[in-house]
Amino acid sequence: MIKPDAFANGHSGAILDKIIKAGFKVIALKLTSLSASKAGEFYAIHKERPFFGELVAFMSSGPIIAAILEKDNAVEDFRKLIGATDPAKADEGTIRKLFAESLGRNAIHGSDSNDNAAIESSFFFSNLERVSI
Ligand code: RTP
Ligand code: MG
Repeated sequence: MIKPDAFANGHSGAILDKIIKAGFKVIALKLTSLSASKAGEFYAIHKERPFFGELVAFMSSGPIIAAILEKDNAVEDFRKLIGATDPAKADEGTIRKLFAESLGRNAIHGSDSNDNAAIESSFFFSNLERVSI
């Protein structure tokens, strides 16, 4: 998911270009926005964390772009491509190093496991909204 900071800062095209050039296939894509309630549902795993309120407020603050990506070893490779959660700690050339503003406003989300990738894909997309490649 391209987060509200990156969308608002005009980085969506550059981010999608990097993702595609890194070998990921886009099999679903959507510009949308999250209500606070839906943002809280998406990040429910963090609901006891002190930053949860800030996270929900930010994620519901503006448009986001959701995508389902396919690749061998996709979860691990995508986490490498996006870089560390805190852009100050992200490697050079990663999406967060290039485009994120801060730990809280960090440009992009990546699923952290195959199981969560499937759950998060179904959060945003019906089967009709996915293509087979
Ligand atoms: P994401 O889920 O968004 O891809 O990020 P991540 O796996 O790299 O990091 P995660 O631990 O899942 O945290 C989710 C998002 O919460 C915000 N956060 N704020 N203020 C803080 O200490 C703090 N820690 C995490 C970040 O925006 C992070 O992406
Ligand atoms: Mg995470």
